[in-house]
Amino acid sequence: MKINVIGLGYIGLPTALTMANAGFEVIGTDYNPKLVKSLNEGKVTFKEDGLEDLFKEAVSKGKITFTNEYEDVEMYIISVPTPYDKFSKKVDATYVINAVKDVLNVCKEEAIIVIESTVSPGTIDRQVKPIINKKINLVHAPERIIPGNMMYELKHNSRTIGADKKEIGEKVAAIYGKTTDGNIVVTDIKTAEMTKVVENTFRAVNIAFANELAKICSHDKMDVYEIIRICNMHPRVNILNPGPGVGGHCISVDPWFLVGDYPSLTKVIGESMKVNDSMPSFVLKRASEIMEENNMKDYKRVGLYGLTYKENVDDYRESPTLQLLEAQKEHLAEPLKVYDPFIKENIVENQYHDLKEFLKDIDLVIIMVKHQEIIDNMELLKDKIVLDTQNICSNKNCYKL
Ligand SMILES: NC(=O)c1ccc[n+]([C@@H]2O[C@H](COP(=O)([O-])OP(=O)(O)OC[C@H]3O[C@@H](n4cnc5c(N)ncnc54)[C@H](O)[C@@H]3O)[C@@H](O)[C@H]2O)c1
Repeated sequence: MKINVIGLGYIGLPTALTMANAGFEVIGTDYNPKLVKSLNEGKVTFKEDGLEDLFKEAVSKGKITFTNEYEDVEMYIISVPTPYDKFSKKVDATYVINAVKDVLNVCKEEAIIVIESTVSPGTIDRQVKPIINKKINLVHAPERIIPGNMMYELKHNSRTIGADKKEIGEKVAAIYGKTTDGNIVVTDIKTAEMTKVVENTFRAVNIAFANELAKICSHDKMDVYEIIRICNMHPRVNILNPGPGVGGHCISVDPWFLVGDYPSLTKVIGESMKVNDSMPSFVLKRASEIMEENNMKDYKRVGLYGLTYKENVDDYRESPTLQLLEAQKEHLAEPLKVYDPFIKENIVENQYHDLKEFLKDIDLVIIMVKHQEIIDNMELLKDKIVLDTQNICSNKNCYKL
């Protein structure tokens, strides 16, 4: 079977490679010519453990090609971005709609179009079905993999396949079954849409709970980590860790879809998103308290360690550090110094590319991301004041959230 994967980003590329390694003929399509050129030159476009091996295996088997064109094949997998509208909070399905339109220009009747992109419940019914102008089979198979552990999760995660016709759902389930040993559940499209958004909303709300505890404990001088550790000994309590905020393409975005679509029914979810969004400013406030306590006046001597939205990946979309830099614009004349070992290009002002150079220029380091590099080099921080938002540092001059 031939599969055309549309959109070769963080989700589309590993999906295309996995399908190719499972024996399918895969055409990977992206409208970004630079990205396609890079793949055709044998270079993967982002860092992820195991991705290069997966790429080499698929290319050497001759099972995958990369192009800007859409092909006439039996099945399409669409994995294009789905941001939210910052004002209405609703999902912005424009990329998905445009990709489906382009597929419809080349596909034959009875082709299967699988939408992997995350969308809110009812989006496919309301926004995609009205543009369908021939007899095709629409399926929704939301992706769950997490950057940083993609290779494992591609092989082992269970999947949800939503389809109007059971036999089409089963057919697609059998195809995905060749790539994962996890369970595959076939359901209807709207249920599949809702499950994905609910999964990320569950995470967001639970993170917000931990973040709110961190704020209460900081306000009244209690140790939030010790409290969470003890509470989690209760057999039915499992509190997550607080942090400097939430970033990335999923947890900081998808719950807003529900808030946008069901504003009067999403009080807990809406407030949770606001709590998570408030964390970068809370970190900034903690930093100013610590500076006062240590008679530090100059923000030029304060630096942020980490720019990505999570540890050991190079994805910085919506990251807490970027949110913090945005929040500080109102208060500081000059952006804080920043360093991240995973970000080689300059994406913000005052960015460093060498850990020792960065540390030389600052007295207070705010650990925003727990990259392995800083865990392995904690002794370099022994003469610094540290604000550790990740609870990884036990140096003597270390403050927590
Ligand atoms: N990144 C994650 O961790 C993650 C996890 C699970 C689900 N998702 C969901 O997967 C979807 C894709 O996310 P991503 O992180 O891979 O996005 P991405 O921005 O990394 O990649 C999207 C790619 O699609 C291409 N593209 C957009 N429109 C196109 C079109 N019409 N034709 C051809 N190419 C097109 C872009 O050039 C880009 O390379 C989103 O809905 C996201 O919510 C993401």
